[in-house]
Amino acid sequence: HSGKAWGGRFAGGTDPRVESFTESISFDARLAPHDVAGSKAHATMLAENGLLTAEERDAIHAGLDEVLGEIEAGTFPFRTELEDVHMHIESALTEKIGDAGRKLHTARSRNDQVSTDLKLFVREACDRLDELLADVQRAFVGRCGQDLDVVIPGYTHLQRAMPVSAAHSWLCWVEKLDRDRGRVRDCRARLNESPLGAAALAGTTLPIDRDRTAELLGFDRPAANSLDISSDRDFLLEYLFALTVTATHLSQWAEEWIVWFSTEFGFLSLPDAYTTGSSIMPQKRNPDVPELIRGKSARVVGALVQALVLLKGLPTAYNRDLQEDKLALFDAHDTVVACLDLMPSIVAGATLNVAKIESRLEDGFLDATALMEHAIRAGVPMRTAHGVIGKLVALCEKTGRRLADLSDEEFASADGRLVSGGSEELRSVLGAKNAAAVLKSYGGGGREQVAAQVERWRGQLGMN
Ligand code: ARG
Repeated sequence: HSGKAWGGRFAGGTDPRVESFTESISFDARLAPHDVAGSKAHATMLAENGLLTAEERDAIHAGLDEVLGEIEAGTFPFRTELEDVHMHIESALTEKIGDAGRKLHTARSRNDQVSTDLKLFVREACDRLDELLADVQRAFVGRCGQDLDVVIPGYTHLQRAMPVSAAHSWLCWVEKLDRDRGRVRDCRARLNESPLGAAALAGTTLPIDRDRTAELLGFDRPAANSLDISSDRDFLLEYLFALTVTATHLSQWAEEWIVWFSTEFGFLSLPDAYTTGSSIMPQKRNPDVPELIRGKSARVVGALVQALVLLKGLPTAYNRDLQEDKLALFDAHDTVVACLDLMPSIVAGATLNVAKIESRLEDGFLDATALMEHAIRAGVPMRTAHGVIGKLVALCEKTGRRLADLSDEEFASADGRLVSGGSEELRSVLGAKNAAAVLKSYGGGGREQVAAQVERWRGQLGMN
């Protein structure tokens, strides 16, 4: 027959093009540590239930360790005709230990095996992502102290809106990344049911103990429906979605900093190590790393869509289409890991060009809303105050002035209540820095609120 593990009912061989078309070893070899962990747990359980002797189990365990050692050392011979990581490991094991190796696949299918491997991979990936996200959060929080008193323009519609502490912007990303960590945690918690023992799709007639393999592999319990679990890739979709949201956040951050790095904004300098030059224009310094973080997010979004489309037409239980899930998973995971890995150095290494920011801070009437709220405090109805300040802004625009340049008389003639508390009180809200200083509400961009949030994050991220 064909010499394949599944070759018993085949008379002829496989077309070599089919072998290279159907192989997955070129990308699933990285599942080897998880495959070995799953096989060791399976063998332990088989021995406890009389399906292997203790000697066979020990030979399997030792043989699997040896195979994994060779894979990790790069000395393991990969052969396309062995299809995937599962077949490679099993056949190498059998070469080493003989018949005991031929018993390992008792009460198991590659279908529950690959699900188990993938869940173990994603579980570990979730933990790694959580650490990397926390490192980025710490980089942002780490510069809040130095930037707390730098007031920057806040924008809506990319138009100057209200002034905020620069640290408020850093914590904006910390919050987003914290929700990302929550999504990853949710994914990890929900995936933690063991597929092992679902076998091909229906379970087995043999006396296995699925609770035991679940326990050995750190799963909370065995999954309750073998048909469901052998077709379940929800965890993969959830993880890809979590990655996609993270990639989207990183892309938004990158876009903002790219804009801030432009000559027109000039808010930021980026460290030499994270910018690159032009092959023709000698003066250039380009934010390539943020640009590629923005660009690579496309691949992650693509991977999520790829997985959704892959899954949507599949009947239950295993279909070979599922083999393609790993390509999307690995690419998205590696992409986000590579981005997150670079971010802390960029975030920590950037400097705010305070002089440049301040030289234009009074452009754009960042204090208009604070002035309106001053009027509200003096008893002017909000809508009336909005109209009054709007007219003053128009007057300033026409005469080339800022709100702080207007005289008490001009304010009084717009609405007497603006000066009812005296000139000093009025002037205490004018100018961007003053307007930022009077922001009071919880979660807002004023210094006191932001300082409190920085403290909270320092505690939460173990930075004190
Ligand atoms: N290489 C396969 C995959 O990645 C493993 C499962 C194969 N199962 C099967 N019945 N052909 O999905």
